[in-house]
Amino acid sequence: MKIVFYGAGNMAHAIFSGIINSKVTAPEDIYLTNRSNEDRLKKYAEELNVNYSYDNDALLKNADYVFIGTKPYDFDALADRIAPHIKDDNRFISIMAGLPIDYIKDKLNTTNPVARIMPNTNAQVGHSVTGISFSSNFGPKAKDEVNELIHAFGSILEVSEDHLHQVTAITGSGPAFLYHVFEQYVSAGTKLGLDKSEVEESIRNLIIGTSKMIERSDLSMEQLRKNITSKGGTTQAGLDVLSTYDIEHIFEESLKAAVNRSIELSAQDNDEDDDD
Ligand SMILES: NC(=O)c1ccc[n+]([C@@H]2O[C@H](COP(=O)([O-])OP(=O)(O)OC[C@H]3O[C@@H](n4cnc5c(N)ncnc54)[C@H](OP(=O)(O)O)[C@@H]3O)[C@@H](O)[C@H]2O)c1
Repeated sequence: MKIVFYGAGNMAHAIFSGIINSKVTAPEDIYLTNRSNEDRLKKYAEELNVNYSYDNDALLKNADYVFIGTKPYDFDALADRIAPHIKDDNRFISIMAGLPIDYIKDKLNTTNPVARIMPNTNAQVGHSVTGISFSSNFGPKAKDEVNELIHAFGSILEVSEDHLHQVTAITGSGPAFLYHVFEQYVSAGTKLGLDKSEVEESIRNLIIGTSKMIERSDLSMEQLRKNITSKGGTTQAGLDVLSTYDIEHIFEESLKAAVNRSIELSAQDNDEDDDD
C-alpha cells in the first residue's frame, strides 16, 4: 500500500509515526512532501526510513492513499500543485479542519474518493479519537484500509460529514477543555498549603492513574465514582459541593460554542473562496 503525505507538519508527523509504529505499512511505502522545508523531510527520511520527493507525478503514481495535511488556508495552492497529476487510483484523506469534501473535490478537479478526518493532538501518543467521514464513492475495502490506518494512532468515530462539527468540539477541542479543568484542580490543590510543584506532579500522576482506571475497567465512570464514595466520608463531602454547581450545563454551553465556531469557520473558508 503506497501512502503519500502532502504536508509533513505536526499532525501529519503524528499520523505517519503511528502508522509506522503499528506496522500497518512499511516505512518504505510512505512518501512525504511539503512546501519547501526539505531539511525536515531529510530528517524524517533518515530517522524513519520513509521516502520524500517534490515530484508530483512520481508521488501520485500508484498512490493508494494521499493524506492532505496542510493548513486549510494553504489548500488552494496545494490543489493547484497536484490537480494536474492526479491518477484514477488516488484516494484522498484530508486532515484539514473545516473544508468540506465537495470543496476539496472541486479544487482538486477530481471525482476520486475523498475522506475527511478530524484527529486530535493525542495522536502524538497513539491515542487520538478521530472523527471520519467518507465520500459516497469510497468502497468498503478502501474504508477498511483507511480505518486500519487511523487505528494506528487511536480510535475512530465514523459520522456523517455534517456531524464533524460536533466531533471537532467534543474530541478535537476536548483535550484543551480537559487541560483547563485539570489546571483549575491544580490551582485549587496548591491553595491547601502543600508545596506547589509537588502538588502539580501529584495531580499529573492522579490524572494518568485515573485515565488508566477508565481504560482498564469495564465499569461506567459513574460506577467507578460510586465505588470510591462512602456515605458521610470525605469524598462525599467534596462531591456534595461539586453537585451544587451545574457543571453539565457549563460543558453544554462550551461544546455548543465550539460547534458554532466550527460551523462559522467552515462557512468562512468557503465564502473566502467564493469571493476570489
Ligand atoms: N495540530 C492539531 O492538533 C490538529 C488537529 C486536527 C486537525 N488539524 C489539521 O491538520 C492540518 C495541519 O496542521 P499542522 O498543525 O500539522 O500544521 P503545520 O505543522 O503547520 O504543517 C503544515 C504542513 O503543510 C505543508 N504545506 C503547506 N503548503 C504546502 C503545499 N503547497 N504543498 C505541500 N505541502 C504544503 C507545510 O510545508 P512547509 O513546512 O514546507 O511549509 C507543512 O509541512 C491543519 O489543516 C489542521 O486543521 C490539526
